[in-house]
Amino acid sequence: MAQRRRPQVFANQDDLAAAAVRRWMELAAQAIAARGAFHVALSGGSTPRLLYQRLSGAEFAGKLDWSRVHIYFGDERAVPSSHVDSNYRMARETLLDNVPIPASQVHRIEADMAYIRQGAAAYAQVLHSELPRSEHGEIQFDLVMLGVGPDGHVASLFPNSCILRERERPVAAAYVAKYKVWRISITLPTVNRARHIMVLVAGPDKAEIMRRLFAESHGHPPLPLQLLEPSGEIEWYLDEAAAANLPPDVRQ
Ligand code: 6PG
Repeated sequence: MAQRRRPQVFANQDDLAAAAVRRWMELAAQAIAARGAFHVALSGGSTPRLLYQRLSGAEFAGKLDWSRVHIYFGDERAVPSSHVDSNYRMARETLLDNVPIPASQVHRIEADMAYIRQGAAAYAQVLHSELPRSEHGEIQFDLVMLGVGPDGHVASLFPNSCILRERERPVAAAYVAKYKVWRISITLPTVNRARHIMVLVAGPDKAEIMRRLFAESHGHPPLPLQLLEPSGEIEWYLDEAAAANLPPDVRQ
């Protein structure tokens, strides 16, 4: 529970994005100052859109040396990069097309390969060749961004999926039975090893899963987001709708 820091709660998604993007910029500046680069895995879905739009907007123009930033993805759907469901496409439209990041520093997950496990293996190679190492010599992100599904999934780590048991590979292909689709996702050891994890959660459909996380002990088996036991720092950013069922003493 100690790692599950108290959530910061914001009146609405705009305020949540405004606070989270300032923290994102702080972490980027710290990483660049300390190690010369910032390696961040973006989350997919809809919640991070506002943060990405703010990040590429006028408020932060010229405030970040994008030549020092490496962008990765926490997960990707098995669709072409131009597909409306592609996390890469969403990030490209809201952020990557609007900032001066070198194309060679945007590391897309090629989940649309004919053989998806090949795509996962190829991405593992990218992580091994591009990411810095932890003090134990293992690949380590400076920041992993996550969203949360109403069922408690993070990235494409869904409840009862075998990828939750993956402890060796840094990224793997996963069949998501509930949606009958394949995905590629970074695995729990990779997430938990990050220097920082930033979880953005918004909307009334997340209120119950947030209550279970912050007000109940682990279920059996634990939900994916209950397996977030980071060696670094984890920060939760919720809007009031997602925090609606939280006991008062849980909030920051
Ligand atoms: C994805 C994400 C997934 C997402 C959650 C929340 O590829 O969909 O990685 O884990 O973060 O499902 O999605 P929303 O932000 O759309 O609620």
